[in-house]
Amino acid sequence: MTRETESAGAPLSVVVPGAVRLQNGETTRFPFQRGKMPEEGFVLRHAEELYAFANSCPHWSVDLDYGMGDFYDVSLDRIVCKNHGALFHPRTGFCEWGPCSGHSLERFEIAVRGEDVVVTIR
Ligand code: FES
Repeated sequence: MTRETESAGAPLSVVVPGAVRLQNGETTRFPFQRGKMPEEGFVLRHAEELYAFANSCPHWSVDLDYGMGDFYDVSLDRIVCKNHGALFHPRTGFCEWGPCSGHSLERFEIAVRGEDVVVTIR
């Protein structure tokens, strides 16, 4: 369960409970809403660091994971879109191969607060 806080014009802060405990290559999804439509993001731990991205392919605006929460392929060392196999760099979200090549996943700022990750969505 995540918690969101938002005030008019201010960035949205989403708390992803326990995300600090992710192991390398593991991800966890989180829901948020910044407009009328519900959206989703995910937190990835990669090479000991934590990153957060929107779960939305830059070329079709659809989920990358088919709803399975599986974003990262350890053998490729890339975030993979399940729809077309596009490959995204795990630290930047930059698409290196696939139909959205040259575009990037939306990356969010994060902060660690105890065991939780706080994601800032603008
Ligand atoms: S939907 Fe765009 S590469 Fe997967």
